[in-house]
Order: sequence, then C-alpha cells, then structure tokens
Amino acid sequence: MEYISHPRIVLSQRFPNSVTGDDPLAQIIDGRAIAADIRKEIKTEVDARLAEGKRAPYLAVVLVGDDPASAAYVRGKHKAAAETGIESDNLAYPATISEDELLGVIARLNDDPAVDGILVQLPLPDHIDDQKVINAVDPEKDVDCFHPLNVGRLMLGLSGFKPATPAGIVELLLRSGIEISGKNTVIIGRSNIVGKPLAILLLQKGTDATVTVCHSRTRNLPEITRQADIIVTAIGRAGFLTADMVKEGVVVIDVGMNRVEDASRESGYRLVGDVDFDGVSKKASLITPVPGGVGPMTIALMLRNTLDAAQ
Ligand code: GUN
Repeated sequence: MEYISHPRIVLSQRFPNSVTGDDPLAQIIDGRAIAADIRKEIKTEVDARLAEGKRAPYLAVVLVGDDPASAAYVRGKHKAAAETGIESDNLAYPATISEDELLGVIARLNDDPAVDGILVQLPLPDHIDDQKVINAVDPEKDVDCFHPLNVGRLMLGLSGFKPATPAGIVELLLRSGIEISGKNTVIIGRSNIVGKPLAILLLQKGTDATVTVCHSRTRNLPEITRQADIIVTAIGRAGFLTADMVKEGVVVIDVGMNRVEDASRESGYRLVGDVDFDGVSKKASLITPVPGGVGPMTIALMLRNTLDAAQ
C-alpha cells in the first residue's frame, strides 16, 4: 500500500470558542470525511476489478459471543464494506464455542479460495487463546495484520498488510498536510494493536518520525508530552491527556474509545477519547474528535487490506 504523497486536506474551519467568542480552538481533523475519501478510492478499484470480469473482494468477519460493543464495531465494518463494493459476511458463534471448533472455522476459511480476508473480532471469550487464533489465520488473509509473520514483515519494512489503526493514523496525519519527518512524536500506550505497531510505522524510512513510546510505568510523562509536536493517545482512560501536558500548537490524535455514563442518552452512555478535548483543543493546532476521528479510519484501512488481499 502506498501512502498518498499529495494529501487532500480535509479540515474543518478554525472556529472561535462558542462560549467566550475568543480563544481560537484547534482545527478538527475530520476522520469521517477522510475515511469516506479512502472508501471512494477503494470503490473505484473494486469497480475496475469488476469491469475486468473479476469477482468482488470478499471479507469473512468472525464474531464470537454477544458483546454489544463488538457487535456494533462489526456492524460498522460490514456497512463500510458494502459502500466500497467489498462483499462480507458475519460468521457469528456463541460464546460457548470451543477453541478447537473456532480453529476449525478458521481452517475452513483459510482453505476457501473465495475468501480473501479473514477478520476475527477481538476480544475472544476467556477460554479461547486470542494469540492461538490469530496464529491460525492464513497470513495472506490476515487483514488486521495481527499474524506474527505480518508483524515481522512490518518490523523489517517489507511490503504487505499494514495494521489498520496505525495505518489509519498515519493517513490522517498525511492527508491533513502534517509534516511527520523528524517530528517529536509521543505515543501513549504500548498495545500490540496500536502503540507498538504505530511506533514501527512512524519510524519507517520515508515517514521518519522521532518516536517516544510511553506507558503506565513511564516517569515524568507530562515532561515528555510537553516536548511533543505530535501526540497519539491509546491508553483507554477517559480525559487522561490534559491541557497542562501539551505545548501550544501540538497535533493530537486520540485513539481512545471510552464509555462514560450519560443519563441524557438513550443508551445510558457516550463515547469519549483519552484526551480532555475541551482543554487540549484550546492549545492544539489540530485534534481528532471521538467519535469521528480514528475509528472510521481503522475500518477504511482494513478494507484497503481486504482489497490488497484480493488483488
Ligand atoms: N477489537 C478492537 N479493535 C480491533 C481490531 O482492530 N480488529 C479486530 N479484529 N478486533 C478488534
């Protein structure tokens, strides 16, 4: 996958504080609009395949159990796939499925030439070893880029799938016209899905960020984040990054998706990120909202991987 070298900038207007009328706030990076652009690009390529008489790319999504959050994420993936012309099915299994049965499902999908991409929605129930299931997916169908072979290829800078959330973050930065090369980039969080692979992507030759990865044991975190030109938060703690932890003009990418109680909502909760948006947006030059920032990009880049798997 190539990153776009001439970014189309999709930013909302810089706007004054709606309460005081002064204090210009950060520009919002509109992840929904940028992800919609990427889905259109994918659709164009899918249409070209169909015009050549090839079949549509096909994604199998495996969902185990009845966690409402996972079910909602998976619905979003199917809806986005349909927009691009990528066909997808939901293979739903009860939380009681055994690890062996699930490994059997994966083996059948691996062997089916009509299946281009396989996505197993995580987390899996406690009696199933997530890593064992990830290891069982054919690396050529691993559109999450979670398989150790694909993680190794990423580490070495070889061609292949890119992990969806980290690749989505890099695309958000590039398509917002943000210079990454040489920038002091601080990632808060060291997960296998976001923090670690994002550090590797940002370090690659051609992207060239200077990367610091922080985590729960990091000492003097605010001192480190105050040096950052770009901050990516991926720790799952609502409102963790506050205005006193950032310098003026920082670019902030918020990967957090935290449910907080909200009696005014029918659902009883609302989604917030890891960033204290009201405070930090007064100092940042650019910031992603939650929802509507990184989330739609993750799905778009996973679909990009599905198309690449079919090509
Ligand atoms: N659960 C939370 N994020 C993800 C993701 O990116 N892929 C999969 N498969 N499961 C997830």
